Amino acid sequence: MEMNLPNRLSGKFIALDGPDGCGKSTQTVMLYDRLKGQGVQVVTFRDPGGTAVGEKIREILLNPEHAEISVRTELLLYMASRAQLWAEKIAPALKAGKCVVLDRWVTSTCAYQGFAGRFGAARVVEIAAASLERVWPDLAIILDVDVETAAKRMNRALDRMEQKGKEYHKKVREGFLQLSNFNDNIVIVDATKNIEQVHQTVAGAVRQIK
Ligand code: TMP
Repeated sequence: MEMNLPNRLSGKFIALDGPDGCGKSTQTVMLYDRLKGQGVQVVTFRDPGGTAVGEKIREILLNPEHAEISVRTELLLYMASRAQLWAEKIAPALKAGKCVVLDRWVTSTCAYQGFAGRFGAARVVEIAAASLERVWPDLAIILDVDVETAAKRMNRALDRMEQKGKEYHKKVREGFLQLSNFNDNIVIVDATKNIEQVHQTVAGAVRQIK
């Protein structure tokens, strides 16, 4: 007999990711609310951030005044915030049988620093493996959107990463689309559709978790 959803998602680790303007933060909240409503014990965090130390690292990373940050520094700061998030929040939640829904994870470092930043996605994965207890989630959902649609969704002041320009962000998207070469638990969702349609597709992918 198939286990019910709350039991099936107990101790599972799901990440939503994608280019800036893909709607990932909205979809993360919608998925969280849905799962909670279905009786799943669920917690959600943002990466970078989610802890006191991580939020400070996030502020360093996104501050437009820090234009001089190198790609290696970027990569290590993202990884440091994540290592802290794992130790302080994710590991205890998984151990307690909760389902963890994350707004971004290592998939972002592969696409941004690895691919767009030219550090190399394979090298990012090596550093992630040395820095984190776990590199890949049980499911990573990449919300795919073209640069033009994404830009239209971001009519506000841009942070340091968002200011990197169209060519960089095109590369970020390409990077995300190539990630399924690294891991089988990655699904790509068309995020140009409306919010409710994207949510239904995300929920469908989560239901497939074994
Ligand atoms: P957010 O806008 O989803 O909160 O993410 C913060 C920014 O940091 C966003 O522009 C993507 C970028 N980023 C990286 O460049 N590398 C990473 O590893 C992560 C997690 C985010």
